[in-house]
Amino acid sequence: MPIVTCIEDLKRLHKRRAPKMFFDYAESGSWTEQTFRENTTDFEKIRLRQKVAVDMSDRSTAGRMLGEKVAMPVALAPVGMTGMQNADGEIKAARAAEKFGVPFTLSTMSICSIEDVAEHTSAPFWFQLYVMRDEDFVDRIIERAKRAGCSALVLTLDLQLLGQRHKDLKNGLSAPPKLTPATMLDLSTKWTWGLEMLRTKRRQFGNIVGHASNVEDARSLMKWTAEQFDLKLDWEKVRKIAAKWDGKLILKGIFDADDARKAVECGADAIVVSNHGGRQLDGALSSIRILPSIVREVKGETEIWLDSGIRSGQDVLKALALGADATMIGRAWLYGLGAMGEKGVTAALEVIRKELDLTMALCGERDVADLGPHNLLVPRDFEGEWQESGARSSDRATSLPA
Ligand code: GLV
Repeated sequence: MPIVTCIEDLKRLHKRRAPKMFFDYAESGSWTEQTFRENTTDFEKIRLRQKVAVDMSDRSTAGRMLGEKVAMPVALAPVGMTGMQNADGEIKAARAAEKFGVPFTLSTMSICSIEDVAEHTSAPFWFQLYVMRDEDFVDRIIERAKRAGCSALVLTLDLQLLGQRHKDLKNGLSAPPKLTPATMLDLSTKWTWGLEMLRTKRRQFGNIVGHASNVEDARSLMKWTAEQFDLKLDWEKVRKIAAKWDGKLILKGIFDADDARKAVECGADAIVVSNHGGRQLDGALSSIRILPSIVREVKGETEIWLDSGIRSGQDVLKALALGADATMIGRAWLYGLGAMGEKGVTAALEVIRKELDLTMALCGERDVADLGPHNLLVPRDFEGEWQESGARSSDRATSLPA
């Protein structure tokens, strides 16, 4: 087994082992990828304060998310098509998360179905929902998630239209898929991946095929998904879905203080400050830069989690110290899965926990709950001096960082 000391090691292995079209799908941002890049580079601008001669024994990274104990405040974010990065990927990732003691979120657009993941795991997982126009489908999938014992619903609000990722179009990862000669050549060199994919029966969107009307094959499925994302999603619909779920609700994709307030009014138990890993609105600020404005607005009224850009335990620490209650990781665990299946997801979680623990200690802290702005050196202009130009009269000035 290769020696893995950081998430970058897993990314290199993932790139080597998975077909280019799937690795690129993971490694894309929309358009110029400015937001995708800044999600990580903005973390680097924040520095840590070293403290010495502090008792470093009895440290703990454990925390709580939605009132449940977690080994560290880091949940696995939902990722579409995970089972194409590595055969049966969602089951492998859910098992790794369960053994490690952190939550796993299953995407609507997963390859393994809700029922399949429930059958192969014992801890409850969270289910992520994209709101579709087919209301019967939405009602049924909510019922399926309830029956499978999912303990929270993660409603994604920032993807009613898909951001354009150039690499996906060029690789033929589109609706319907186009197998270009370059893609075929690349697929023929990824032996281990190909053999594992041949051995599994899970190669389609398991939550959709057989559950949505008129979806039987890849082509009709692609057509269905392209047409189904509900452009009319609004806060009223969010409230209706919340009422149907009637359990813990996480609203994902909140990136504005006014929207955070509306999410609280909808009864969100947690919000995820997220720009979808830089895959949607290119030109948006990075998630770590927008975080303080949302913390100022709703801290204490709902749990505030952050995703987009976390690649290390130091990043987790910085997010927590800036006021996030917890974090989610997407690519970091996906690299692990693409690199080495379940073992790779475990390796990613171990890397992050070790980095979080060690960094915390060197900052003079023994418990994640004690982290705060006192652990950081943040550039004076970090949030930026943004002039609110052309705001609609109904928008409040607090929607931008000060
Ligand atoms: C879907 O979640 C995507 O970002 O492709």
